[in-house]
Amino acid sequence: MVIKLYQQLALALGTWVIRLRISAMKLRPSKQSIKAGARVIDTAEMYGNGNSEQLVGQAIQNLDRKELFIIDKVLPNNASSDQLPKSLDASLARVGTDYFDLYLYHWRGGIPLPETVKALQDAQNAGKIRHWGVSNFDLADMKELLSLPGGSEVAANEDLYNLGSRGTEFDLQSWQVNQKIPFIAYTPIAQGDRFGQQLTTNRTIQAIAEEHQATPYQILLAWTIRSGNVLAIPQTSDPIHAAENVKAGDIEFTEEELELIDNSFPKPTNKQPLDIL
Ligand SMILES: NC(=O)c1ccc[n+]([C@@H]2O[C@H](COP(=O)([O-])OP(=O)(O)OC[C@H]3O[C@@H](n4cnc5c(N)ncnc54)[C@H](OP(=O)(O)O)[C@@H]3O)[C@@H](O)[C@H]2O)c1
Repeated sequence: MVIKLYQQLALALGTWVIRLRISAMKLRPSKQSIKAGARVIDTAEMYGNGNSEQLVGQAIQNLDRKELFIIDKVLPNNASSDQLPKSLDASLARVGTDYFDLYLYHWRGGIPLPETVKALQDAQNAGKIRHWGVSNFDLADMKELLSLPGGSEVAANEDLYNLGSRGTEFDLQSWQVNQKIPFIAYTPIAQGDRFGQQLTTNRTIQAIAEEHQATPYQILLAWTIRSGNVLAIPQTSDPIHAAENVKAGDIEFTEEELELIDNSFPKPTNKQPLDIL
């Protein structure tokens, strides 16, 4: 069911950067993104120490909750049997909703994984989350998770993935496809070249963008979700970018274009450490 939903939605709205500048101005783009067609909202108790969740709450006021798919995340230190229910209640209150569609364990910390899984299952049984998942898990973490009681109920894994960071293609993504566990790509457009990888200024990317009458950013985004098995959650504070990002979901590449992209940004040929932001 989750996979089906992801395939329909494909593009979502990240709220990470909201943590940097909390203001009413930041709310407008969130509303614009939702208006433009983004239906998945990705937030976390960590972002702005809850401020991001409050802004999401304001942005979704007057919208039909059933039309939205809200992802929230619990911090590793709060992922214990005692603390997780309290963190979850606080997050739900800030967003102003009775449930999250997906609640992720933000990254692995010191709390034993079986305890966190049990706490997530309890939250699901209580009806406060529809599904639970993980973030920043590599293949070994996922296999360990699936070996635990209830671990195979994991609904998604959210990891860093973009054209400049293809490591998860080596084994993790195909394994998740086989296990039918959706892969959510965070930082899907590499924060617009912030990491100095020159993705948007690459001549191949620019030529393909011209061919599709699109921007290089749209090409990066469309590339990230090209398989149909990946949900991307780009962040933008610009309403025009938000609309462009939603439209990127319509771009389809030819085999030749994908080969050209592979030549400039090769697929991984060996296991690489998981990139984390
Ligand atoms: N699970 C985790 O551990 C984790 C970690 C990091 C992030 N995340 C999630 O992933 C989301 C996205 O990641 P991110 O913010 O790191 O990176 P990103 O989405 O790859 O990049 C965001 C940057 O790209 C620019 N941008 C977006 N669309 C554009 C367009 N069409 N044209 C030109 N520039 C564009 C934005 O600037 P403008 O505002 O000017 O458009 C912004 O500076 C976050 O919001 C968060 O929800 C999750």
